[in-house]
Amino acid sequence: MSLLNLVALLTFPQIAFAASDSSSSSSSSSSFTFNGFKSANLSLDGLAGIMPNGLLRLSNATKQQTGHAFYPSPFSFKTYSNSSALSFSTYFVFAIVPEFQPLGGHGMAFVIAPTRGLPGSLPSTYLGLFNESNNGNASNHIVAVELDTLKSSEFNDINDNHVGIDITGLESVLAKPTAYYDKKTGSFQNLTLNSGRPMQVWIEYDGPSQLFNVTLAPLDDAKPSIPLLSLRYDLSPIINQIMYVGFSAAPLLSSHYVLGWSFNINGMAQPLDLSQLPKLPRVGPKKQPKTLTVGLPVISIASLLLALFGVAYYARRKWKYAEVLEGWELDYVAHRFRYKDLYIATKGFKEKELLGSGGFGKVYRGVMPGSKIEIAVKRVSHESRQGVKEFVAEIVSIGRLRHRNLVPLLGYCRRKGELLLVYEYMPNGSLDKFLHDQPKFTLNWDQRFRVIKGVASGLLYLHEEWEQVVIHRDIKASNVLLDGELRARLGDFGLARLYDHGSDPQTTHVVGTLGYLAPEHTRTGKATTSTDVYGFGAFLLEVACGRRPVEPKASNEKAVLVEWVYSLWSKGEILGAVDPNLGNDYAQEEVELVLKLGMLCSHSRPEVRPRTRDIVRYLEGEVALPELSSLGLSATGLAFAYNEGFDDFANYNSSSTQTRFTGSSSIENSFISSGR
Ligand SMILES: *[C@@H]1O[C@H](CO)[C@@H](O)[C@H](O)[C@H]1NC(C)=O
Ligand SMILES: *[C@@H]1O[C@H](CO)[C@@H](O)[C@H](O)[C@H]1NC(C)=O
Ligand SMILES: *[C@@H]1O[C@H](CO)[C@@H](O)[C@H](O)[C@H]1NC(C)=O
Ligand SMILES: *[C@@H]1O[C@H](CO)[C@@H](O)[C@H](O)[C@H]1NC(C)=O
Ligand SMILES: *[C@@H]1O[C@H](CO)[C@@H](O)[C@H](O)[C@H]1NC(C)=O
Ligand SMILES: *[C@@H]1O[C@H](CO)[C@@H](O)[C@H](O)[C@H]1NC(C)=O
Ligand SMILES: *[C@@H]1O[C@H](CO)[C@@H](O)[C@H](O)[C@H]1NC(C)=O
Repeated sequence: MSLLNLVALLTFPQIAFAASDSSSSSSSSSSFTFNGFKSANLSLDGLAGIMPNGLLRLSNATKQQTGHAFYPSPFSFKTYSNSSALSFSTYFVFAIVPEFQPLGGHGMAFVIAPTRGLPGSLPSTYLGLFNESNNGNASNHIVAVELDTLKSSEFNDINDNHVGIDITGLESVLAKPTAYYDKKTGSFQNLTLNSGRPMQVWIEYDGPSQLFNVTLAPLDDAKPSIPLLSLRYDLSPIINQIMYVGFSAAPLLSSHYVLGWSFNINGMAQPLDLSQLPKLPRVGPKKQPKTLTVGLPVISIASLLLALFGVAYYARRKWKYAEVLEGWELDYVAHRFRYKDLYIATKGFKEKELLGSGGFGKVYRGVMPGSKIEIAVKRVSHESRQGVKEFVAEIVSIGRLRHRNLVPLLGYCRRKGELLLVYEYMPNGSLDKFLHDQPKFTLNWDQRFRVIKGVASGLLYLHEEWEQVVIHRDIKASNVLLDGELRARLGDFGLARLYDHGSDPQTTHVVGTLGYLAPEHTRTGKATTSTDVYGFGAFLLEVACGRRPVEPKASNEKAVLVEWVYSLWSKGEILGAVDPNLGNDYAQEEVELVLKLGMLCSHSRPEVRPRTRDIVRYLEGEVALPELSSLGLSATGLAFAYNEGFDDFANYNSSSTQTRFTGSSSIENSFISSGR
């Protein structure tokens, strides 16, 4: 501890002092201490705010936005702009409180940045620190320590409870599962970031030795002698001479708080007075006050009657909110929602809250009581109990999938004969609304191309980048949702099943939507990544042409979209297929690429279709699309699924082209049964 700090500690043992008070004198603006933030003048933005008791709240979990809190004045991290970085140290107490016990959201970070508030940074997986364009680019000059409660495989996170040192990007230079060194046992003990309990963090950088240490401990423990992370890294080329320090959070289902914070350049951060720190708001339901016991007989009778009514009322409520919970589900309780909460959230599943009725059930919008988080609830009815266990195991593991182009599944609930799936709410609804039936406004080409690339990237994640191969089985415009930024999110994993990499996909009933089903899929009933690619091909054509894959009402040559596009292409008029709503405002090469790729993916021979990885490369322009004629693309090569199941098509009620086609007699059965 430097002499200056010792003096400061002796002079101001308890009182928080903010360096900004003493303006820009360089000696005093090298440190600050906040035992609570009541009198602090922090620079706040987004969801961040200071609560009346002095608690700094970075986010309140309701919206997917960012929250930043920065110390208002910058610090000198170097003596000269060309000299090496000075030592610094910070110490803070924080808490991440999950709003839906115990589902977790994104984490938070301590950050050193050239600007206050990180303009342009994105929420969710970007933690409010970076965006797609500056992530990983040393010119952003950002150094952060992330306390992350989600595993984003885009950035190679190790698990959903880790601490990492991020230098200029979200891919941590060093990360470890959250833990602290316990002197008593002489070993590391695990900590849960998302536990709602306050924890201490020390972040120290030693200029001369270039050692960057991060140490954690529960609130009551003294600072452990061994840090969790210790990294040798020269920060001098990364950070500027003048930098700001602060916190960033990008909530989803959790609230982030900082209780106290100290910082020091060229010395140890001051200790905090833990007894002075503000209290966290209470979570969970309020305790019922004790009922008074009164001895008078009249009152007893009255209260007996009241009790009877109470019991009757309680029984009715219990019946109304009854759930099914079986022993095997205990492994998944973390992902369960209470039916009562879903019922209240959707105002009793009112028609007014209905977002749509998809293939397997109705979807309702809801606002969770308490946390006010917007959700979408899908009600799926199921009669047979067979397969539910396997299905729940699947959806729970799918719930662990996180990717910026997938709709996050938050959890589930079960009732007699009914399964409820809870998703994050997507404010812009499904893509098909922007394409078909005289849309209120249509997407321009740039937006459509971004959506296409997003869906391809989401599909690649499902097929190749996650631990298990996930076959989507029902890719189509109505299963692509648009979030607040019109980013594509692939949704409805209701039909997806999981396979281990390399193993042979099991045969199941054919489930999917007519027009998107690969011929070999209807024939063999086997869904593969290649049948998904077929569906993606139909989707590409649908987005570029603004037409459904099959429109029985249209004239003969236009009824089957892929055949129509093919006929135009063979006449050299492929651009004649473009959605008239786009006018002439589109990039010709991109549209051609999408249409040709759509045809290639629609090839009847699976081995000719590109792999998902190649699709992404073609769309990103990394590799040129092979000439279609060289691949023997011919009218017969484009055999369409209905050729195999023609009877179904012929008998098919033309009023709704989106009716699901299923090879088994019962939709519910094929949905939940394992099919073996
Ligand atoms: C969350 O914060 C926002 C913005 O500060 C505010 O409008 C909203 O009422 C807050 N919600 C809750 C539940 O505290
Ligand atoms: C708070 O900080 C801002 C930004 O540095 C400054 O403009 C403002 O005057 C400060 N307010 C107080 C009360 O210190
Ligand atoms: C760094 O800058 C200072 C002042 O601008 C200059 O005197 C010094 O020579 C520079 N040192 C190096 C190593 O470039
Ligand atoms: C990304 O962030 C940087 C730095 O904050 C900003 O300059 C840039 O405009 C942002 N880019 C986008 C696409 O938002
Ligand atoms: C990094 O950012 C700078 C400035 O924004 C830009 O000029 C440069 O091209 C970027 N580098 C990479 C590899 O993206
Ligand atoms: C601590 O967490 C790690 C990683 O999550 C895990 O592998 C390990 O088994 C845990 N240890 C204990 C004692 O729970
Ligand atoms: C960082 O941790 C190492 C032990 O891993 C220790 O030797 C070193 O003194 C620590 N440095 C700082 C600045 O705390």
